[in-house]
Amino acid sequence: MKWRTFTVVGMLAVVSVKSLPAESSYDAWLRYAPLDHSASRQYQDIPAVAVILGDSAVLHTAQNELIRGLKGMLGKTLRAEQNIPKEPAIILGTFAELQQIDSGLKPPRQFAQDGFWIKTNRIRGFNSLIVGGSTDRGVLYGVFTLLSKVGRNQSLAALDEIQQASAPLRWIDQWDNLDGTIERGYAGPSIFFENGAVRADLTYAADYARLLASVGISGCTVNNVNANPKMLEDTFLPQIARIADAFRPWGVRLSLSVDVSSPKVIGGLDTFDPLDPSVANWWQQKMESIYRLIPDFGGVVVKADSEGRLGPSTYGRTPADAANVIAHALKPHGGVVFYRAFVYNHHLDWTNPKNDRAKAAYDNFHPLDGKFDDNVVIQIKYGPIDFQVREPVSPLFGGLQKTNEAIELQITQEYTGQQRHLCFLAPMWKDVLDFDLHVNDADTPVKDLVNGKAFHRPTGGYVGVANVGMDNWLGNPLAMANLYAFGRLAWDPDLSAKGVVDEWTRLTFGNDPIAVRSITDMQLSSWHIYESYTGPLGAGTLTDILGSHYGPGPESSERNGWGQWHRANHDAIGMDRTVATGTGYVGQYPPKVARLYENLQTTPDGLLLFFHHVSYNYVLHSGKTVIQHIYDSHYEGAEQAENFVLQWQALERYVDEDRYAAILARFKYQAGHAIVWRDAICNWLYRLSGIPDQKGRVGHYPDRIEAESMQLQGYAPFDVIPWYDASENKGIECMAPASSSCSASFKFERPAGWYEMDVQYFDQNNGESKFRLFVNHQKVDEWIADDHLPATKPNGDSSTRRWIPGLALRPGDEIRIEGLPDGQEHAPLDYVKVQLSNDK
Ligand code: GCU
Repeated sequence: MKWRTFTVVGMLAVVSVKSLPAESSYDAWLRYAPLDHSASRQYQDIPAVAVILGDSAVLHTAQNELIRGLKGMLGKTLRAEQNIPKEPAIILGTFAELQQIDSGLKPPRQFAQDGFWIKTNRIRGFNSLIVGGSTDRGVLYGVFTLLSKVGRNQSLAALDEIQQASAPLRWIDQWDNLDGTIERGYAGPSIFFENGAVRADLTYAADYARLLASVGISGCTVNNVNANPKMLEDTFLPQIARIADAFRPWGVRLSLSVDVSSPKVIGGLDTFDPLDPSVANWWQQKMESIYRLIPDFGGVVVKADSEGRLGPSTYGRTPADAANVIAHALKPHGGVVFYRAFVYNHHLDWTNPKNDRAKAAYDNFHPLDGKFDDNVVIQIKYGPIDFQVREPVSPLFGGLQKTNEAIELQITQEYTGQQRHLCFLAPMWKDVLDFDLHVNDADTPVKDLVNGKAFHRPTGGYVGVANVGMDNWLGNPLAMANLYAFGRLAWDPDLSAKGVVDEWTRLTFGNDPIAVRSITDMQLSSWHIYESYTGPLGAGTLTDILGSHYGPGPESSERNGWGQWHRANHDAIGMDRTVATGTGYVGQYPPKVARLYENLQTTPDGLLLFFHHVSYNYVLHSGKTVIQHIYDSHYEGAEQAENFVLQWQALERYVDEDRYAAILARFKYQAGHAIVWRDAICNWLYRLSGIPDQKGRVGHYPDRIEAESMQLQGYAPFDVIPWYDASENKGIECMAPASSSCSASFKFERPAGWYEMDVQYFDQNNGESKFRLFVNHQKVDEWIADDHLPATKPNGDSSTRRWIPGLALRPGDEIRIEGLPDGQEHAPLDYVKVQLSNDK
């Protein structure tokens, strides 16, 4: 063990502490770390035997997991048995199996959907603990719950707890491609595919299924919704079956995304018309061959007539026609079709103020209500656009009363910081799930619509787009809270975001109250913080919607057919979606909700610009004007992001070295990128509106020295595109011949003292430039621009900073940055900020 130093916020003292052993984030919330002595004492009477009453693979998994977990946490290895011993035991089995050993052992009520019952009970004269389930999978879920209790130091005495899932479908979608890349994945390559084939080693796939099962997820679609038809080729299916084999012991069913043109593209037919009998026959035979290989195949996901994908419209057919032909083929085998409602025209005429992409899902699917087979589920993104940082709930949830539905949530942070920014989404998901659409004037929160309760549908539920990869699942250990929360809320949407993140934190980092409080606070505030510097007031995430969906790009959404418009002009901002004067989208909601959004006064500030086009001087409920709110929220958000660094540093002694360092690096990056966002959006709106910031911050950066104003050798100024992605719109690039460096220098003229310096530079992914910083002749720092940010150019995606604290500077010092280009990256620089060390 190493010794190292840590700083506590508010304390100047530097103290030495013993660090915790390094941990990988791979184990996530299933790390089963040893409990400390006092915590483990309450479990000293734990039975020494783990019995399973049946012989299924899932029951064996449950038994092994129980033994593994208790061994890790308590240091005790239970004996694995299949018969009831003459001593206390932990007994695992279905309710039917339990009744065979004791006919009185009946759960207090009927169960559906993988429910379980954990109960302390006397069995054959001994105090035992039973974990019963309505299915084997239910038993496994009960075991995970038991282990979670131990991990969170909860008592196991006098237990009598029943749980069952809120909805039958709790599914994950992965957008993995056969070549091993992942669409909108931010954590390395696919765990399933590489080089056009299924990976030889599927250890990750099995471990992923374990993570999913631990939070009650029972299905996983392994390939991109933009599906490669090859997936369904007879020669390829045996490879897919290997993934299903890896999932099966964890009770996770595999499903596939399919391309509806497959009967033609790989099937050799001359049509994929869903009403053509040869097409129906093709799907039927295809499903038969899949079920021969994968008897528990879950079903298929369909993205059609969307973003360039072919669909039933080719033949003038409807989504119901396309869904039903596949559903019919799946029906005898128990499979379902998840048909995505993400169907819209991305060539909308932006000059027509009545056009509105938000209307598409409802317009396309509401008229088909009742036309879908019983094993079709319409998979609806939570909002009408596309996983923005805030959207109203999709009106389609209320627009289908005779059709099954599932909500699609996004765990991968496509529009919410791509796991480089902390953004815990459970508070947003809770808002969505609890939102009452008042369908037919009844209480119909979204959670009761998707689970089928409101309209007595046979099935429905939750789909989370996770896109985990080989880099510890989601890359950022803190982002794993989103995967955990998705499973927990799908299981029980009545849980609170706070309760869920409290569980996750304890299981991931231990039970120290200081760490638990601080990490849960950071997580719970993070969505709002991210929103405040990327897309306040419901304007959508103001990102580059044509490319990375990452850095600032507010102009990218306008003047094109994609329909993510915010309609900002010189006087006003926001989309008028009212019935009275706008696109009419509001009219898709049931009357009570429509009234709320139609009226400017009753629309919540957080969604104002989603529903209304208002002047920059419009006064919000808070009393601020729209423009001042936007300026303020960007400054506050960036400051709070900076504060994450300090909050995290205060936790150094509570977290092992590896995870501590990985998370600290992300927070430092986030703090810098939040400033890039802040400046881009504020300057863009300042230029557009001409209204200055009342607090004088926007456009005034007193401690900055622009790179283009420095003494340059070899470096040349260039215009950054888009202009708002760089300070004063310009940067410098090193144009020196290969393998020679350039330099940019300036004279320091402020009083002597301790200073810190931020060097704002661009780190593209097509080169690894080297930088060195000198004060006079002394080199004080050096670094390599080798991050993998999503950009090949200097812009808001690649803009990042190097923070150099503790520099003793004297008036007259020469500060010089040397940049050595590499590949296509010309060691680009934006500015340097120098401020007194205690300024922050
Ligand atoms: C978003 C995302 C695409 C994805 C699409 C979908 O638009 O950027 O990569 O294919 O959603 O959900 O189908």
